Amino acid sequence: MFLGLDFGTSAVKALLVDGTQTIIGSASVPLTVQRPAPGFSEQAPQAWWDAMTSAVDALHSAHPGQLAAVQGIGLSGQMHGAVLLDGSGAVLRPAILWNDVRAGAECAELEAALPNLRQITGNIAMPGFTAPKLLWVRKHEPDIFARTRTVLLPKAWLRYRLTGEMIEEMSDASGTSWLDVGARDWSDDALAATGLSRAAMPRLVEGNAPGGTLRPDLTARWSMTRRPLLAGGAGDNAAGAVGLSAIRPGDAFVSLGTSGVLFATTDRFLPYPQAAVHAFCHAVPNTWHQMGVTLSAAASLAWWAGVAGRSEAELLTEMGVPTAPSDAMFLPYLGGERTPHNDGALRGAFAGLSHDTGRPSLTQAVLEGVAFSLRDCLDALHASGTRIETALVIGGGSRSREWIAIIASVLGLSLQRLAAGEQGGAFGAARLARMAVTGETPEAVCEPPAVAETIQPDPALSAAYAARMVQYRALHAGLAPVF
Ligand code: XUL
Repeated sequence: MFLGLDFGTSAVKALLVDGTQTIIGSASVPLTVQRPAPGFSEQAPQAWWDAMTSAVDALHSAHPGQLAAVQGIGLSGQMHGAVLLDGSGAVLRPAILWNDVRAGAECAELEAALPNLRQITGNIAMPGFTAPKLLWVRKHEPDIFARTRTVLLPKAWLRYRLTGEMIEEMSDASGTSWLDVGARDWSDDALAATGLSRAAMPRLVEGNAPGGTLRPDLTARWSMTRRPLLAGGAGDNAAGAVGLSAIRPGDAFVSLGTSGVLFATTDRFLPYPQAAVHAFCHAVPNTWHQMGVTLSAAASLAWWAGVAGRSEAELLTEMGVPTAPSDAMFLPYLGGERTPHNDGALRGAFAGLSHDTGRPSLTQAVLEGVAFSLRDCLDALHASGTRIETALVIGGGSRSREWIAIIASVLGLSLQRLAAGEQGGAFGAARLARMAVTGETPEAVCEPPAVAETIQPDPALSAAYAARMVQYRALHAGLAPVF
């Protein structure tokens, strides 16, 4: 029996999985985000702990016999957040989260202080990443910085509470701006550029390797018959990939969540920071992954539904099945963009409107705009040398077959819908726990998921969208200086 714990931003989820990879039960406890100033996003680590223990307590009540038999625990969670600890291991301030953008100036300072930072870490220093947050604390809260002895990511802090050990794994460590992502080791130069050293960092393990043992008091609290082993685990995207079995080079998926992600597994470290590609370690050894991230995917449709005063389902029904590009165009940069522009100042736009433009055309334009932003992500990954032929589609937006069909034609890829429901990072975390306990290979544990349907690009639409893509890029280039 294996337990996957996923520490999201909006909820903690606990998932109990048996030896045949069948889900026995799950429990989820919501979390809130505090925003003490514009652009700030914080959570109290104690709130994560309370939510996590409540979720496992719920499994203890619902499935006492199965929880008692847990041999391994895997952790997955929100990436990039900074938890600052003093010399006694006490938390010094609320955690600064991945979607906190206060450290914009510090990103530029960090890159100026260490000009080869992008080569070492494979990534642009972005405000979401951990190192710029520490520079912000050093500047604005010098007393707290002076008392900081260790910096942990959210799930490493939870592991510390669960096991008493400070351990991190490669995929999450990749999002700190402190990891030499090619060497899978902390970079002394990157740490020094933020006034830190290796002493402030947890020990590193691979995601499928052992990473601590559950404390005896918690083992007793949940009536477990032996102290479960923890696996290294993974950041949420890499854990989701393990759950989808996207661990072999070329395996790819598109996630149509609030933000949109094009994720591709690579057998090498393939940095491409010039187009704001994320190049991170995967959660299994000798494997890396790339991500193109567009910030407003399903969020664009949700925004449009709010403005239009219609439900998303009503808008999609009214739109019908597109046979040609919309007469209107939409830039989905409602909150800036990561890949390929790395430009927080960009904003959205409708264009090409005429007297004949109605709500269905605008709905279609929104869906197409997100598809074009994913095409920018795909071209950035291609430019770095990655090849993708087919991809799974997951996330809330994947409920719309019309949207998947548009994206397939815009990307020129066949896209697959899953037969079974998604379990997110928690299922991947449970699989990593199994690998850590049994020593099975990732390939043995990660069988490709059952596919319900494969949606192919429509050649005529693909040609029309290729022409539209040129206009989309011209629209961005023309409007970027305006914003
Ligand atoms: C990845 C990223 C998000 C967070 C939030 O770079 O910022 O996926 O991990 O869950």
